[in-house]
Amino acid sequence: TEVPAESAHQELGEFAHHMRKEYWEQPASAARALKGRLEERFGTARLDGLNLDARAKRAIRRVKILGCGSSYYVGQMGAQMIEELARIPADAEPASEFRYRNPIIDPETLYVAVSQSGETADTLFAIDEIKRKGGQVVGLVNVVGSSIARACDGGIYLHAGPEVAVASTKALTNMALSFGLLALDLGRIRDLSIADAKRIIDGLQAIPGQIDEILRQEDRIAEVAKPLSASASLFFVGRVRGFPVAREGAQKFKEVSYCHAEAYQSSELKHGPLALISAQLPTVAIVPDDELVQRNVGALHEIAARGGPLVAITHAGVDLSGLTAERIDVPKNEVELDPILLTIPTQLLAYHAALALGHDIDKPRNLAKSVTVE
Ligand code: G6P
Repeated sequence: TEVPAESAHQELGEFAHHMRKEYWEQPASAARALKGRLEERFGTARLDGLNLDARAKRAIRRVKILGCGSSYYVGQMGAQMIEELARIPADAEPASEFRYRNPIIDPETLYVAVSQSGETADTLFAIDEIKRKGGQVVGLVNVVGSSIARACDGGIYLHAGPEVAVASTKALTNMALSFGLLALDLGRIRDLSIADAKRIIDGLQAIPGQIDEILRQEDRIAEVAKPLSASASLFFVGRVRGFPVAREGAQKFKEVSYCHAEAYQSSELKHGPLALISAQLPTVAIVPDDELVQRNVGALHEIAARGGPLVAITHAGVDLSGLTAERIDVPKNEVELDPILLTIPTQLLAYHAALALGHDIDKPRNLAKSVTVE
């Protein structure tokens, strides 16, 4: 998946880095993830590549999602979408752990392998293990014809286009959108009403334009990123739907800025990590306008009372009065899909922190775009 330095340079155009080019490509690439896949008339998603008929989909009792790095965090996001919309128990696990623990493979579980490159060795081995034991695996893969795409029984191609920067942006967004489609499909052959399905379809269709709105706030997000880049350490906090967003945000920040960034459930802060809060430890909080908003805002007050600087990635309707916080508002979508949009500012924060620090953003030290070895 390495792109020769010269050709990579030529493709950059007006952009200084692939990472920035790729996050700006998201409105177009997100639209490609949805193209031809929404059946408005029946309120469902059309995912022929899964190679599962209605009866096979109906027989799924559990969904297990496997991936590494960002592909694992987006898997956690996807598991929540599937649980909420399809009401099928779902969870995600790093493929790198799963493959080594002699996993129990259940024929009524749908295994979902998630990979941008389609070449990550840990994910590929996890698939081999599942198939050896008679399980069924579908892939959410970007690179067509890659090893993982070929190893799976079916899947959803991400259509993100080539991704060069090590830190995943547009592929990750398309993974999340594909989980939205999968959740819709599995939901509609269960108890998801046509009205709820239409609400989700409208939400999905709004996402490409809403990503564009977020990207247009880049100058301001860059200002917010600068002081963060000066910190030795920071927290990313969120709860329930916001937690995978916080985990992915922390991962991205570590990858490109090399600052220590730790994700925590905001609900768990009072059970230990509040002891770390001080003027030297900023917190980036994911605060969607959902049924947990009051509790989330409460956690921000706890942080502020201890002098912790705050950045809130939130919605315009959320009242942060009485708090000193930098706020980044993202457009509101449906609660189940909001995590997709809340993730976008974390990409920009990581990029601009790394830029302020002068790092090699597209090729962070010690990392490779795809890890094809043990
Ligand atoms: C490497 C990269 C990560 C990436 C992970 C999974 O570790 O450094 O940024 O998330 O691989 O890659 P994949 O191609 O399987 O999505």
